[in-house]
Amino acid sequence: MKILFAASEAVPFIKTGGLADVIGSLPKELTRQGLDVRVILPKYGDIPAKYKDEMTHVAAFDVYLGWRKQYIGIDTLVMDGVTFYFVDNEFYYKRPGIYGYGDEAERFGFFCRGVLEALPQLEFQPDVIHCHDWQAGMIPVLLKAHYQQLPFYSGIKTMTTVHNLKYQGVFGQEVFKDLFGLSDDHFSGTALELHGGASFLKGGLLYSDQITTVSQTYAEEIQTPYYGEFLDSLLRHRKDQLTGIVNGIDYDVFDPMTDPNLVVNYRDSLPKKQLNKTALQERLGLPVDGDIPMIVLVTRFVQQKGLDLIQHVLREILALDIQLVVLGTGEPAYEQMFRNAALTHPTKVSAHIYFDEGLAHQFYAASDLFLMPSQFEPCGIGQLIALRYRSVPIVRETGGLKDTVQPYNEFTGEGTGFSFTHYNAHDMLHSIRRAVFFYKNDRESWLKIQQNMKKGDFSWRKSAQQYITLYKEMTT
Ligand code: GLC
Repeated sequence: MKILFAASEAVPFIKTGGLADVIGSLPKELTRQGLDVRVILPKYGDIPAKYKDEMTHVAAFDVYLGWRKQYIGIDTLVMDGVTFYFVDNEFYYKRPGIYGYGDEAERFGFFCRGVLEALPQLEFQPDVIHCHDWQAGMIPVLLKAHYQQLPFYSGIKTMTTVHNLKYQGVFGQEVFKDLFGLSDDHFSGTALELHGGASFLKGGLLYSDQITTVSQTYAEEIQTPYYGEFLDSLLRHRKDQLTGIVNGIDYDVFDPMTDPNLVVNYRDSLPKKQLNKTALQERLGLPVDGDIPMIVLVTRFVQQKGLDLIQHVLREILALDIQLVVLGTGEPAYEQMFRNAALTHPTKVSAHIYFDEGLAHQFYAASDLFLMPSQFEPCGIGQLIALRYRSVPIVRETGGLKDTVQPYNEFTGEGTGFSFTHYNAHDMLHSIRRAVFFYKNDRESWLKIQQNMKKGDFSWRKSAQQYITLYKEMTT
């Protein structure tokens, strides 16, 4: 079976969010399980030179985008057995950063068209083009409109995976008309039309053979108006082709036993994990004390991640006997909130307003508790890493958080974390207090939670099998 992943980011080349982690790790596992999986993404200026130096040039041709005739080059390299293709066009991609330019529709429209045009050039005829998020959303649309009648393309199926329904790639309809040469019936309310414009993602959702999203709960949630981002009725309509498959994490990268960023490597030994905490307390200038629970927050500081809940009860949180260690960037008001908290509570708060992957690993290893109170969370990766590093997650029961963290029940001894149902600051506070209580006063429960975490499997193994089952169903 041959699969082509089309996406806008992939670790280790370029990353702004969890999408990149998935694209950098799922193909590796699918390859391990016997598939021919290749990945295609834009060749951004910001891809580190050491990778660019490894690339070889395999194709060059022109792509027509409306009235435009644009150069496209395809470069390639192999990493962990997976072939990556990079779509090269300096006008579109040689810029600092990867999003946030005014011509996003054209840049990713070019990408979608380029992917389809590249296939015969690369002599690669996939069974399935697996498209991710809005940036790849026009591939299924263009395949059906312009390519499927050609023998080379006629057998190719498409799958669209939604990593976050909130980002829909909505632009004016005139832009779509200018770029894609689509007939007028493509712009009706039952086609690409959204909010008066048109949407890349809606194209993917309507025109692909299969839709998936990154957890079962999110697959259900997005069929309701609260989470549906105005696409819930469409998703209800397509519910027979909609599947939730939870993400895994790369077990080679996120392994406390071999992680080079840790002071002491460990897997199940709590005393060894504690040594990482002591080292971090020293390094951050916090009181060195094993009895004080350390709560970490590693996230983008945006509303989706529940930052407004934290803001609402930060004073109450800081009244507890805890240490709060924060890593990330985002909305200036939240950045400032953590800077202030660190100034007013220097023995309790350590704020790191930047991102550093190595430091993040140390935080997972050193912490007792991992806070992730998202308003919505398609899957979430932080809690999976936390579980593997035996940092007990405190989460809101939504999307992938609900599917991967089981609330601790002191009567049955089951559960791997603490959670709350409603998006409410005091419900979150209650969960934090409960977690702190067990950490400080009920060692037996704490050890039980640690035991339960040990049993979980957050690798890609099972989820990759589920994708393979779907690919097979689609192509037979
Ligand atoms: C997006 C979602 C996140 C998910 C990730 C990878 O970033 O917000 O929940 O884990 O994509 O699928």
